[in-house]
Amino acid sequence: MAISYNESTKTFYLDGKGITYAFYINEFDYVEHLYYGKTIGHDDLRYIRGLWGRSVIAAVPGYDVDVDSGVQSYNHFGSELTFYGTGDYREPMVEIVNPAGDRLTQLLYDSYEILPEKPAIKGIPSMRDGETLVLHLKDKVSGFACDLYYTVYEDAGVIARRAVFKNESENVILLNRAYSFAMTLPHMGYDVISLYGCWAKERRVDRIPMHHGVVSIDSKRTSSSATLNPFMALAEKGATEEQGNVYGISLIYSSSFVLKAEGVCDGRTLVTGGINDFDFRWKLESGEELETPEVVMAYSSEGIGGMSRCFHDAYRNHLINPRYVRKHRPLVINNWEATYFDFTPEKLKSIAKAVQGTGIDTFVLDDGWFGKRINDHSGLGDWVVNTDKLNNGLKEIIDYVNGLGMKFGLWFEPEMVNEDSDLYREHPDWAIGVPDRPHCYSRYQFMLDLTRKEVRDYIVNAVNKVLQENHIEYVKWDYNRNVTESYSIGREPERQAEFAHRYALGLYDLCERIVEANPNVFFEGCASGGARFDPGILYYFPQIWTSDDTDAEERTHIQYGTSLVYPLSSMSCHVSVVPNHQTYRITPMATRADIAHLGATGYELDTSHFSDEDRAVVHKQVAEYHGMEDLILNGDLYRTENPMESNYFGFMVVSKDKTEAVLTAYRRMGGVNNEVKILKVAGLDAEKMYHVDELGLTIKGSTLMNVGIVPKFADGDFMTVKYRFREKNLAV
Ligand code: DGJ
Repeated sequence: MAISYNESTKTFYLDGKGITYAFYINEFDYVEHLYYGKTIGHDDLRYIRGLWGRSVIAAVPGYDVDVDSGVQSYNHFGSELTFYGTGDYREPMVEIVNPAGDRLTQLLYDSYEILPEKPAIKGIPSMRDGETLVLHLKDKVSGFACDLYYTVYEDAGVIARRAVFKNESENVILLNRAYSFAMTLPHMGYDVISLYGCWAKERRVDRIPMHHGVVSIDSKRTSSSATLNPFMALAEKGATEEQGNVYGISLIYSSSFVLKAEGVCDGRTLVTGGINDFDFRWKLESGEELETPEVVMAYSSEGIGGMSRCFHDAYRNHLINPRYVRKHRPLVINNWEATYFDFTPEKLKSIAKAVQGTGIDTFVLDDGWFGKRINDHSGLGDWVVNTDKLNNGLKEIIDYVNGLGMKFGLWFEPEMVNEDSDLYREHPDWAIGVPDRPHCYSRYQFMLDLTRKEVRDYIVNAVNKVLQENHIEYVKWDYNRNVTESYSIGREPERQAEFAHRYALGLYDLCERIVEANPNVFFEGCASGGARFDPGILYYFPQIWTSDDTDAEERTHIQYGTSLVYPLSSMSCHVSVVPNHQTYRITPMATRADIAHLGATGYELDTSHFSDEDRAVVHKQVAEYHGMEDLILNGDLYRTENPMESNYFGFMVVSKDKTEAVLTAYRRMGGVNNEVKILKVAGLDAEKMYHVDELGLTIKGSTLMNVGIVPKFADGDFMTVKYRFREKNLAV
């Protein structure tokens, strides 16, 4: 059993792959955290508690401080749920306003259940499967209650957690804060790792020392955003890519979030977070509940890389749509960088025709096919074909592409509207905004108010109509601006601060209704590049456009950072033209392909000019990719060289059974009389013999991993090398 309860010590033990998580119900019915880390025995862990006594405290309400010199304070209990106003001065996980105006609550243990089947969160994406514990906590005075959910997995070193806040009173209760989890780590000797960025520079890695006070990362954009990803890791001092205790926190949420690590005066670290309480207030009527988004916590003693592999297993096996687990991905040619808005049917056909027979199997028509979309000033919201550009409609192109033996994919930006559109002329009030105040333009567009059902119904019908009337097998779902003027016409003033979370609920409803109505369509997420690359989106769309920056050098940074949390199968990566359209850099075609092939790969360039030789090059690259696709999409990732720290980048991917692997390494700057570079090799079975095609040698795993490989980069800058490893008896 993965979850067990010891009646005599009132301790819960949660065992997942390689991990134990333990807490108990103390003498005040407080849920007190005890342990999170490597698998341990189910011993009585309460002996560690006494170490944290203090003398000057606010004792648990009603408790006589003279009895026990003050250990008995909420402030000093390792916590699974912190609350405000009764002696705990740490970051509260929840803050409510009672009918009398006081903000107190004491959420204490009432009962528990163990569920063999994990219930889904209503209207919010969450992990599937796993054994689940539900703790029921109650505030006896107010009738406010909370359920804490914990799920563990046999095949991934993660715990999924969330909270449901319930109003079991006769009155209205206001929630000023409703986070998903709280947890105490035993000391403060951590570095906080986060992923920051901006357009074309998504998910760069930041690492700062933990300190007394709060380290907070958040988004206030009603979107997860490129600015900070909903992820935080606490890496023990000295933890490296391969070694040391690392705790990762990843929130399955796509709207404004916050994650906090608080260095507490007792020397421990409290971690908490969830929906951002900035610009948030939620009204809970009697009998109502608020479900919070799920957080996935990964632990590994094998460093940052180990943490990533826990997340990758969890998200590949239990988060993405089961239709795509361990499945081949479409390999696309996308027309965006080839034509932008300026295309004709002939041009599109020639782009598709040029790659026929190369192994590229899907042609994706990007922005510009609908409404009066001649540029980005008009057309969004009008999901009917632009017959000025495509005089015979979509059918002509789709038939042509299908005739080449390829699938057809189409771009949408369902959440948006241009002022210059029929939709806006008909329903100006559907755009998010405050009456009588001007809108912020962003890329000349406004956002639709997804908190309103009639708006969502319009979008669902319009998109589903296009998908059902045409033979479309792939959709790229874009999102190119963030909310401003958060406000929804028609909602009561006291519910306006519910907007950011209601937008997420609206978005998830939209995704659910469109994805489920079109089971034969493969969906890719996108947001001005990778500005909404989060687990919430991944639940609906198994891959996400990683960045508009397709320059191979920049991509080594972006893909490195993204892989801290997200599996390679989730990263859509395209080979594009040089000079690169974002950086103007020129890198070799082979390098662009080698880096783009470290994900769900595709091509995005004007192939209509291709010579036979170009076609042959792509054909060879695609064949190579197909030969390692299963490894890339489903194998274990080892980041062997960090491009932020050196002249090199390296990703090694090893099959689960360790019979196969591939190592792609990149050298940024060439030179003369270069240093001797030895590439790290990782993740192999030390005892197996591997044939390394490129070395023409068969070598023992332990030798490869301890000695490494001296790469033969071609002269010049931005060069890659690739090595394939096959267990000896599998060598070809
Ligand atoms: C932003 C995306 O990231 C691009 O790939 C492209 O689809 C454009 N939007 C189209 O407007």
